[in-house]
Amino acid sequence: MSRIATYDTTGGPEVLHLTDVPDVEPGAGEVAIRVRAVGLNPFDAKVRSGFIPMEAPFPRRIGSDLAGTVDAVGRGAVYADGTPVSVGDEVMGRAAGAVAERVVTRPDGLCRRPEALPVEVAASLNVPGLTAVSCLVTVPVTAADTVLVGGAAGAVGIIAAQLVRDAGARAIGTAAERNHDLLRSVGVEPVIYGDGLVDRVRALGEITAVIDCHGRDALDAGIALGVPVERMVAIAAYGAEAELGVHNAERAARTPANLAQLADRAASGDLVLPIAATFPLDEVRQAFATMEGPHAAGKIVIVP
Ligand SMILES: NC(=O)c1ccc[n+]([C@@H]2O[C@H](COP(=O)([O-])OP(=O)(O)OC[C@H]3O[C@@H](n4cnc5c(N)ncnc54)[C@H](OP(=O)(O)O)[C@@H]3O)[C@@H](O)[C@H]2O)c1
Repeated sequence: MSRIATYDTTGGPEVLHLTDVPDVEPGAGEVAIRVRAVGLNPFDAKVRSGFIPMEAPFPRRIGSDLAGTVDAVGRGAVYADGTPVSVGDEVMGRAAGAVAERVVTRPDGLCRRPEALPVEVAASLNVPGLTAVSCLVTVPVTAADTVLVGGAAGAVGIIAAQLVRDAGARAIGTAAERNHDLLRSVGVEPVIYGDGLVDRVRALGEITAVIDCHGRDALDAGIALGVPVERMVAIAAYGAEAELGVHNAERAARTPANLAQLADRAASGDLVLPIAATFPLDEVRQAFATMEGPHAAGKIVIVP
């Protein structure tokens, strides 16, 4: 038997509870993973709360991003690159219902975890990392660019800002003041969000592209600063993209191959994704409540 987190109705973290389920064998093309760490994402909470409506029946499982060890392999189960999965493989990536001790999934959203990458970071890279990559595929940047990254201390934002930096561009990121040293430490120039943002950014130089990883403030600033709409992309603007004529981040770049590249960079220290706190599975409600409230920069991770 293994424990999984489920919920029977939409609501706050208090609707979550743990359930014992039998350990089923993976079917053809599937693998079973002993979960070592789960990175929580705002999306998980938005679906659980009903903010993002879903048709899926109750009880529902929760979570999408994990790192773990393969403990059973169904017939013909292969990674996205066609190589076979083996028992004992250390893996990371996407698996529906990841908040659990064990999950059964198709391995098409998984890649191998580099040995040097801690499981907590590996479990946290999938959604934030691939969303950040998607932003830069949607609005490519070069060394000629100065890019405003909205919400640069968030999980998506801090990766997007580092990818901007790696492209040779100048990265300016909005964040609360307490996160400015963190941004400087990864080569990103911080600026406080909120009233007066346009003037503060204008004082730093001419912006040529915007990646908004929080809402629409950076998009609005970009418009006010004369950035062309085709040089702006958003991930959490909830309708403002269409209103303003800016891009949504495309989805085609969300591949295990791109995840593996991010993992290698994180393992070598070239890419930083801080971990704010870890929680045992027993404390799944506290873990979500922490992620959904104000907390130190970085990911909230469950270690079952
Ligand atoms: N469309 C997609 O595919 C997609 C994918 C992933 C995530 N998302 C969405 O993108 C958003 C960010 O996700 P995440 O995982 O990066 O979340 P996260 O790690 O919780 O980061 C959110 C960040 O927002 C910042 N923030 C708060 N108020 C702000 C403001 N007024 N202006 C600028 N930044 C502000 C906070 O920074 P401070 O601590 O500095 O205040 C916080 O670090 C969420 O809404 C999520 O649902 C969308």
